[in-house]
Amino acid sequence: MTLTRRQSEARPGQAPDAPRVHLVTFGCQMNKYDSLLVEERFIRRGYALTDEPGSADVILFNTCSVRDHAEERTFSWLGELKRAREQRPDLVIGVMGCMAQRLEEEIFRRAGHVDIVCGTRRFQDLPELVDDVRQRRAQSAAGGGRLLATETADEVRVVRSGERYSGGLCGFLAVMRGCDLACTYCVVPGTRGPVRSRPLDEIVAEARWMIDQGARSITLLGQTVNAYGEDLARPSAGQRRGTGRGGRVGLGDVLRGLQELEGLARVRLITLHPAYATRELARAMADCDKVERFLPLPVQSASDAVLKRMRRGYNLDLYRRRLDILRAELPDLLLGTDWITGFCGETDEDHGASLNYLEEAGFAVNYIFKYDPRSGTPAFDSLADDVPAQLKKQRHREFLDLAETVQRRVLGAQRGETREVLVEQVSERDDSLLSGRTLQGLPVSFAGPEELLGKLVTVSVMGSSPYGLSGGLLAE
Ligand code: SAH
Ligand code: SF4
Ligand code: F3S
Repeated sequence: MTLTRRQSEARPGQAPDAPRVHLVTFGCQMNKYDSLLVEERFIRRGYALTDEPGSADVILFNTCSVRDHAEERTFSWLGELKRAREQRPDLVIGVMGCMAQRLEEEIFRRAGHVDIVCGTRRFQDLPELVDDVRQRRAQSAAGGGRLLATETADEVRVVRSGERYSGGLCGFLAVMRGCDLACTYCVVPGTRGPVRSRPLDEIVAEARWMIDQGARSITLLGQTVNAYGEDLARPSAGQRRGTGRGGRVGLGDVLRGLQELEGLARVRLITLHPAYATRELARAMADCDKVERFLPLPVQSASDAVLKRMRRGYNLDLYRRRLDILRAELPDLLLGTDWITGFCGETDEDHGASLNYLEEAGFAVNYIFKYDPRSGTPAFDSLADDVPAQLKKQRHREFLDLAETVQRRVLGAQRGETREVLVEQVSERDDSLLSGRTLQGLPVSFAGPEELLGKLVTVSVMGSSPYGLSGGLLAE
């Protein structure tokens, strides 16, 4: 979970006295993407952005609910604004994102100075909601009253013409939202609602719009991105069949559409669910040389008993078979995964099975979370959180240690190879270094001039750590 703040900026033609919005983003890449959308909507409505909370007229939090810690952190940030709001009664404070959708009125109860709680499918209305609060305040000394906007029935319509793209070289693009699965530990189906896919032509048009304004790599986002298309209509007789189930348009069609776009160098995907990892998707990836040979495919556990209690919809054998399908089409594929350790009823044997599988599958990236019971989820209601905190901590440690060893081995195997790298940024640690990614999604740093930003270059891999590669520039 990261926190991003935006630079203060004035846009041409912007009124000097425009009200200023400060937006703080927690959570996943989808939230970052949504925050950029929201900021553009505010600018279109005559607002300016600021990275100074002290000079903002509107402070918004785009929030995450996946673990308790994420929500508590937002409450603590909100708490810090209580005094600011007392001193400046005209300040508008809003909460958007998953926590807004999940907790609704509870946010007003715990943080009485919040004005707006705006759900995950209403965020595009935020400028109007803020205007509404400001107008009501101007009309009545008693204050504007609270606004709750959390209905989920609406689709999110993203129409970006007339907006500016501000995502830089590496942009994000949501192709779908929501999740139709029901993993017993997870709040996301509740906070994001069912799968809603965007029309293919709208996605390609948004990608074109991003590339025209400087994007060189695009990460396709979705809560279960490879469920893209599941909610779209089947083709009728005579219509072209897509790569999705039943001939529907699927993620493979999105990849093929983006592959054609001139100026685009790389396409990335996050996050996939094994249930929708099909041969059609793998074939489309194999046909598209802009698509990274890296997939985040969370396994969560390698014990069938735990997977069943998690209601993941697969057992280890099925997960293995999905990998076989993917690897048959993409022999150089690298994988990332998520693990939950200490889930309800997890025994030492279950834990050991997961460690064995981490080793066997050779995951290049591992995100490891201690199970956190979330109210409102099936596991919270019907399974005991019976792995003691100390044991969860110990298993987490064992996971981290093994992940480091395995990643050291997997990334170490890249040494001596020559790789094509998209140069993405000047290294944060050392400004004489550039950093980018190989086609297999691995970060790599090397010395080179800034002019190479956004270009594809050839790098000889010389060094590696469990988390990235280093090398030397061979050719541009
Ligand atoms: N849609 C993705 C995951 C989204 S949440 C998927 O299906 O894989 C990101 C990660 O957070 C999950 O993969 C899981 O590992 C972790 N996570 C979700 N709920 C959790 C909980 N209650 N406790 C601990 N980790 C959790
Ligand atoms: Fe949550 Fe499972 Fe859906 Fe992922 S697939 S968002 S873990 S319910
Ligand atoms: Fe968090 Fe919602 Fe993303 S719970 S991880 S912000 S989908």
